[in-house]
Amino acid sequence: MSVDLRGRNMLSMKDLSGEEILAILDKSADLKADREKHFRAAPLAGQTLAMVFQKPSLRTRVSFETGMTRLGGHAIYLSPVDFELGKRESVEDVAIVLSRYADLIMARVFGHAIVEELAEYATCPVINGLSDFEHPCQILADLLTVRERKGNLKGLTLNYIGDGNNVAHSLMYGCARVGMNCVITSPSGFEPDATVLSESNAIGSELGATVRVAMDPAEGARDADVIYTDVWASMGQEADADARKAKFSGFQVNAGLMKHAKPDAIILHCLPAHYGDEIDYDTSRTANSAIFDQAENRMHAQNGLMLYLAGRA
Ligand code: CP
Ligand code: NVA
Repeated sequence: MSVDLRGRNMLSMKDLSGEEILAILDKSADLKADREKHFRAAPLAGQTLAMVFQKPSLRTRVSFETGMTRLGGHAIYLSPVDFELGKRESVEDVAIVLSRYADLIMARVFGHAIVEELAEYATCPVINGLSDFEHPCQILADLLTVRERKGNLKGLTLNYIGDGNNVAHSLMYGCARVGMNCVITSPSGFEPDATVLSESNAIGSELGATVRVAMDPAEGARDADVIYTDVWASMGQEADADARKAKFSGFQVNAGLMKHAKPDAIILHCLPAHYGDEIDYDTSRTANSAIFDQAENRMHAQNGLMLYLAGRA
């Protein structure tokens, strides 16, 4: 059965089947392998992506914008001060108006309900460019990176160590969908959402994969193929950052932790990184680290996704 995502939204990794994820990764790898061919073909010529940001960004903004350029389309950056989503204008009206101009909308928001409301009223696909609850585009890039380094996904074990946040939630769904085991190691009180845990574990079990939470960093990292971390305080949690440092002490990716993983385990971080907190600098620069391939792959993975959503894959 061929994969058809035309007109669909991309709000959560839960919403994509394993087959759909793998099709997007195949398209992304093809786009990455032959940049010139795809640029000449300009598959999104005449199409515009509206990018709505309530929070800062380096990778998401630049990867979507350069990605649209490579596909022959155009992207418009709408900063948090251009229009205050839900304040100057309702989310409903923004969705309707942007749909009259743009062919795709990408939004980085605080509450996940905002991206859901955009999708409810938009008449074009809406892509979640990060909400407080999920970061699905990041996980498409992560899976592409793991597959490049390891050759396959099913049966591998990923250990995410740190805050049970938006990135952790999307990883849990994404790993489960492709049959990867996923272990989330968090300090007490910072575990991922319980519903995400039960849903992702149920999804994974169909492919023989397990999604679970660990409390002990060494046990969580044992025999992992992938070690992943993210900041201890996400955007919007800055006031809590100092208090979190004490609670997350011991939950760092460093040479000691890597001894528990497989010797060829790769290291991922969605970036931005706070070196010395969730990961030490030297570990981030070892040959096992794929963090900058991962950053580059945001663009390729999103380009594959956009081609599918636009019906041009
Ligand atoms: N990883 C990621 O989403 O980076 P930005 O916050 O810089 O977009
Ligand atoms: N969890 C982080 C991810 C940044 C890409 C945040 O939400 O700030």
